[in-house]
Amino acid sequence: MTPEKKKKPVLRVDPSRKLKELPPYLFGAVDVLKKEAYRKKLDVIDLCMGNPDMPTPPHIVERLCDTVLNHPRTHRYPQAKGMPKFRRTVAGWYRKKYGVEFNPDNEVLALIGSKEGIAHMCMAYLDPGDTVLVTNPCYPVHRNGIILAGGVPYDMPITEKNSFIPVLEDIPSDVARRAKFMFINYPNNPTTGTLEDTSFFRKVIEFARAYNLIVCHDFAYSEIAYDGYRPPSFMEVPGAKEVGMEFHSLSKTYNMAGWRVGFCVGGREFIKPLEKIKSYLDYGVFTALQLSGVKALTASQKCVRDTVKEYRRRQVKLTEGLNKIGWEAPLPRATMYLWLRLPEKFRDMGSLEFSELLIEETGIAVAPGVGFGAYGEGYVRIALVTHYQRYHDALLRLKDFIRKGPPG
Ligand SMILES: Cc1ncc(COP(=O)(O)O)c(C=O)c1O
Repeated sequence: MTPEKKKKPVLRVDPSRKLKELPPYLFGAVDVLKKEAYRKKLDVIDLCMGNPDMPTPPHIVERLCDTVLNHPRTHRYPQAKGMPKFRRTVAGWYRKKYGVEFNPDNEVLALIGSKEGIAHMCMAYLDPGDTVLVTNPCYPVHRNGIILAGGVPYDMPITEKNSFIPVLEDIPSDVARRAKFMFINYPNNPTTGTLEDTSFFRKVIEFARAYNLIVCHDFAYSEIAYDGYRPPSFMEVPGAKEVGMEFHSLSKTYNMAGWRVGFCVGGREFIKPLEKIKSYLDYGVFTALQLSGVKALTASQKCVRDTVKEYRRRQVKLTEGLNKIGWEAPLPRATMYLWLRLPEKFRDMGSLEFSELLIEETGIAVAPGVGFGAYGEGYVRIALVTHYQRYHDALLRLKDFIRKGPPG
């Protein structure tokens, strides 16, 4: 019998250098173990990705069904920048909520989710080698969008020591002068950091003016806040529109993560290049989805209050339980996450190693902090995306796991 020959690939074509430059996909290792656990039919509790588990409210789903069925004109290519009704609705939402005026014609843009807008913002503005200021840790597309566009991220560390808010004075002035823009995000993913008031935004506006850079504020968690806390909008600060823009998402607010609807607002000179690149690369958001977005933003917001209440119930249950079993867990003021230092006994381990051990031993999947940047090392992020009853079970497993301590 002839030994089986190793199959040679027919083609050898490398993907771009930029793609290779992306940091390794650190959730990959946890994903593999998660799949393995599912394959073995283990009872996995998946708290890894920020993927909302609650359904989209029925009135929004009904609007989509009705539009698709009865309005076939919506099946055609949409306008890349968003239909006028959607843009007017966004402008109205800002007026009502923050008292800020935007011209729907040139200061509002519909996005295929805010992730798309952030990535395209990088492509619209960056030439190879251009610097962008970005927090570390951060929501991954802030950093990866820069790298994919050929830019160079400059880290602004956000840690417990600085209350997860960048220290602008630490940025060397030659770096700030070179930087084209800055990404910030409050309420913050992954750290759950929040801003008390608008004073940081005021400093950022001064900084942007001094160094001629655009501020991109990611406001994906604007509505996921608790106990009367109202996250400030960057745009409500005087002078914001002259230096920046704000990115929004319907994914978390209305449990519409899979629908891919978001928007951004800001100074028209910053919106324009983004609109231009979108008109070349995509056709924007499916019109029926835009109309569902209009419904979401204009109908009763009771569904949002219900979602927030449910996340809070889960957060309180889990933090109280964790603190009891010896894993220090502060209760955040916003977002649907917990950002936790590794339990004391496990602090010699890396966050990736810890997350791998955790899923292997308990079936609980969490996101290793280092996956969001080097300054996230020593932490894990827990997304509260499974139903309330599961946290009791998770706590029983974690109690055993922590009591046992690390192997060896
Ligand atoms: C901070 C932040 N920005 C943006 C997004 C992406 O939102 P979208 O679904 O609108 O693309 C997420 C999703 O987790 C996020 O955490």
